[in-house]
Amino acid sequence: MKKLDEIIENIKFGVDYYPEHWPEERWETDAELMEKMGIQMVRMAEFSWHKMEPRCGEFHFEWLDRAVNLLGRHGIYTMLGTPTAAPPAWIVEKNPEILPVDSNGQRKSFGGRHHDCQSNKVYREHVKRIVAAMAEHFKNNPYIIGWQIDNELGNSHDDLCMCESCKNAFSRWLENKYHTIDELNHQWGTSFWSQEYDDFSQIPVPRKTPTVHNPSMLLDWKRFCSDLVIDFQNMQISIIRKISPNQKITHNLMGFYDKTNYFKMAETLDFAANDQYPTGYYFKAPGQPPYEVAACMDFIRCVKQKNFWMMEMQSGPTGGSVIGANPRPGQNLLWTAQSVAHGADEITYFRWRTCLFGAEQFWHGILPHNGVPGRRYSEIQETIQILTPVMDDIHGIVQKAQAGILFSYENEWAIRLQPQNPGLKYDEVVFKYYKEFYKHNITVDFVASGADLGKYRILVAPLLYLMTPELEKRLEKYVKDGGILILTMRTGGMNNNNVCMSENPLPGKLAAIVGAKVEEYDSLYEKNVILNMKDWKGIGEHWCDILSPASAVPIAIYGSEYYKGKAAIVKNKYKNGWVYYIGTDPEEKTMEYLMEKILTDAGMFREKTGNVEIVFRKGRKKEYLFVMNHAEEDCVAEVPGGWNAEERIQLKGYEVKILERNCGNDKSGRQS
Ligand code: GLA
Ligand code: ZN
Repeated sequence: MKKLDEIIENIKFGVDYYPEHWPEERWETDAELMEKMGIQMVRMAEFSWHKMEPRCGEFHFEWLDRAVNLLGRHGIYTMLGTPTAAPPAWIVEKNPEILPVDSNGQRKSFGGRHHDCQSNKVYREHVKRIVAAMAEHFKNNPYIIGWQIDNELGNSHDDLCMCESCKNAFSRWLENKYHTIDELNHQWGTSFWSQEYDDFSQIPVPRKTPTVHNPSMLLDWKRFCSDLVIDFQNMQISIIRKISPNQKITHNLMGFYDKTNYFKMAETLDFAANDQYPTGYYFKAPGQPPYEVAACMDFIRCVKQKNFWMMEMQSGPTGGSVIGANPRPGQNLLWTAQSVAHGADEITYFRWRTCLFGAEQFWHGILPHNGVPGRRYSEIQETIQILTPVMDDIHGIVQKAQAGILFSYENEWAIRLQPQNPGLKYDEVVFKYYKEFYKHNITVDFVASGADLGKYRILVAPLLYLMTPELEKRLEKYVKDGGILILTMRTGGMNNNNVCMSENPLPGKLAAIVGAKVEEYDSLYEKNVILNMKDWKGIGEHWCDILSPASAVPIAIYGSEYYKGKAAIVKNKYKNGWVYYIGTDPEEKTMEYLMEKILTDAGMFREKTGNVEIVFRKGRKKEYLFVMNHAEEDCVAEVPGGWNAEERIQLKGYEVKILERNCGNDKSGRQS
């Protein structure tokens, strides 16, 4: 038997499979069809708790053994999901206290999934029992390669549970953070509206009140919820690691879904995995813009700074009560190639066959309801043939980025809690900057604020609202050492406890590297502001920081409002680097103009390629250029020289071409 690492390295394609939904006589046909298609892995059992434990402590893994072993005989390995996203009715009947409570104090009902409170001790005992039993049972099965913990942790919890158990866990979390109640009162500013607490046990969870909660409390609640979900995950991980130390562990993350801090969540995983549905949820075609899909995958690559697996890749129309667009011919290959280009080492398609019943009977898989292979089957089969040799060569090699975007969950939470202008959304501002790099085919890393900043030539820190002295120092050092830093409106507005900064004018101590300070600010309602730039009249939206430059040079001046003539965007040389401060939210054309200037100054400018996305990947033997037409229409793409190809290549609608050359043939100096 081959070693697990070797097996895993060889796995490139999988499907999400639910044998429990089909008569057992069909399994053999499924396995044959999978094998013929090139499938090497299935994920199973992540919603099968009742089938595995129909009564407390009575385990039935025989059916799953048969499925695992049958697939194994066809050369298909299994990744098992722990089934804790869907506790069965008997658990809820026995322990109704495990059902989550909403912000009205109302207990939610059994049904759907994720109807569980993750701090509840009784629920955790049920979880420990099933996870340990599964791990014990499958630890020696040679076909099991590893585990997915739960399923999309944080999903389906609109607000996380607000029950008594969560309230107690929140108090303990706060006590651990602030040590004394006086310190918490001081940090949160509870003297406002007479909210001083005498004891941690008095602190509520953010259930509905007649008015609004303290913003420091709300931000800590978000942090607590994220930590709680991670703790729930890690509790399961430690059980499996103890029983079966060699099998791999992952979790299916959801791009920029913001309930849990994925940087922290991924620390205990062997590798990260992602779920991606490019047509989105019932959007009309063409669905989620391709740059957003690209950003999600770059993000998941960055949570561990390592290539990742795609644990659910859309294969057919999405659907609930209404049905999304059917993937157009070519789109399955296009989406798969895009994922691989951005760092997916493995692609698992969701789901093998469209289910006949249940809440997702319209969420289509590779096979239609009738189980007969059709267009999607052949397209994915062809996808596997085309991509396997490329994936063999680039597997495990992480692409290098010269551009970084600082991504902070805490800022996202804080801005979501208090957007300050209804148009300000953290993720949208992040995407705005990402999109400009994407248009120029520049690889981007998403960077946690504690990570090594020095490897990026340019670093964007959008809406860096919560500031700490450490972060100020790190940013100063980054610029001093030659980095190009882009800061935006609202930088340094708050301390880490969501309390307004007051020692210095904004952006606080960073004014020294910005070479300017914020005199006043203005939130724009139903109007925009004119931005006068060198050879461009631009538009700013949502927010205006009115800047007074010291050493900085203005590059955009307000052309309207009472601050007409004042600086809106400035650029400053600081030691060996540069800082741009963008005091407003530029609309797209203005952003495009601005970023072109910044990229040109940074020596990173590349021509835009419209709907065609171009990604460079270096393999062990060869180098590859993924040229992907995301539009329905045919087009001509301009590719850089040195690729044994015409400089202008024809692409049909949704077509992908992967150009190859031997390593070391690059004359353009292209790195990423
Ligand atoms: C998610 C889940 C899957 C399934 C799909 C389709 O990504 O992880 O279990 O529900 O969506 O809806
Ligand atoms: Zn709870």
